[in-house]
Amino acid sequence: MESMLLQLIVTLFVFVSFLNKGNAGITSTFIRSEWPSIDIPIDNEEFAVPKGHNAPQQVHITQGDYDGKAVIISWITADAPEPSKVVYGTSEKTYEFTAEGRASNYTFHKYKSGYIHHCLVGGLQYNTKYYYKIGSGDSAREFWFKTPPKIDLDSPYKFGIIGDLGQTYNSLSTLQHYMQSGAEAVLFVGDLSYADRYRYNDVGLRWDTWGRFVERSAAYQPWIWSAGNHEIEYFPYMGEVTPFRSFLERYATPYLASKSSNPLWYAIRRASAHIIVLSSYSPFVKYTPQWEWLREELKRVDREKTPWLIVLMHIPLYNSNEAHYMEGESMRAVFESWFVHYKVDVVFAGHVHAYERSYRVSNIHYNITSGDRYPVPDKAAPVYITVGDGGNQEGLAGRFTDPQPDYSAFREASYGHSTFEIKNRTHAFYHWNRNDDGKKSPTDSFVLHNQYWGSSLRRRKLKKRHNLIRSTVDGISFD
Ligand SMILES: [Fe+2]
Repeated sequence: MESMLLQLIVTLFVFVSFLNKGNAGITSTFIRSEWPSIDIPIDNEEFAVPKGHNAPQQVHITQGDYDGKAVIISWITADAPEPSKVVYGTSEKTYEFTAEGRASNYTFHKYKSGYIHHCLVGGLQYNTKYYYKIGSGDSAREFWFKTPPKIDLDSPYKFGIIGDLGQTYNSLSTLQHYMQSGAEAVLFVGDLSYADRYRYNDVGLRWDTWGRFVERSAAYQPWIWSAGNHEIEYFPYMGEVTPFRSFLERYATPYLASKSSNPLWYAIRRASAHIIVLSSYSPFVKYTPQWEWLREELKRVDREKTPWLIVLMHIPLYNSNEAHYMEGESMRAVFESWFVHYKVDVVFAGHVHAYERSYRVSNIHYNITSGDRYPVPDKAAPVYITVGDGGNQEGLAGRFTDPQPDYSAFREASYGHSTFEIKNRTHAFYHWNRNDDGKKSPTDSFVLHNQYWGSSLRRRKLKKRHNLIRSTVDGISFD
């Protein structure tokens, strides 16, 4: 009897071990041959200043309203603040409309910026290619962008995700790979230029080189900005102590359109996605402006209009890399239960210079006296993805905790970017692409089932039924 019991226990043990193996995540051992982690020299042609008197440079656009019918066009001129206007239209060389911008400059220690222009171009048609021109005379420059499809349940859209980009040869490789991806807008998860690694005058100069570096993409499609620690720039040694100064001067966000009181946190809706941008380095605990704003913004999310709910932040909430380990805990403790309650589809973060993807897990039952202190599988939880591998001068974060935690699905310390391609209300394709020595090489990909519309056939059937009877019944729960 005893031996039978023992055999049963052994069998169970083997079975459980097998199950654990079946769910185990992947730690890729691939080591890519990389360029050294040094910035491209300041006089390199990748940072070339456009020719001509007062020629617009560092041109970039971002969404300008809540629903994707406006863009903010920004650029810098070196010599004069005028003209600060954009002419634009729907056919090439024919600019039937004009929008007035405003120009300002700032000093940073002894650095004096050029004239920074921001111009809101509104009232655009969905799904339309617009051509625009800025500057005057021989120095004028022409660009174009495409507006997204209208806010709709099944509007397809392809986003790119880039983080911690910097301005090295690895950064250039990431940007070049990204530009081949066919994605239509960048969700940028913080740490832009790494100009704060320089001192005095060079901080401003390296913001300028970065602006010229990303123009090749950012002038033609919106980059949705979130701020990282390298945007803080707290430098008492040279008397610069106002956080996020350079970033806020140069990179506008449409924060007022989502009733935010601060450009560092806001939301936009684009095609079938509702995108919430959070600031890891602004107060977020209970009763702070960011906390109050997020509570209200989550109530405004309408999955019947925008099925996909995406959150951007800089510090990952789930990270099993030794770099920045546990730094996301404070925000996780405050916001994770909301992300589960509102069924966020995916949370993108940067900060850690490696790639990592989680399973759907949560850790919201712990309180100071309960013993529930480990993440558990949770179908209502988001997938957490860290894409801090843009390629900056600090290099890769190659040391992962060992063993790989159960919640971690895939991790690899290589440079790259991701794409998130929404097909319809139920399905999206996700890819991570590492920069494999000049070749685009997908290494982690999966199909995301929408948390509201697509997680089970049963839910979809209930939804059908709900649509039939919705006129008489309110508030049916499908969980
Ligand atoms: Fe960072």
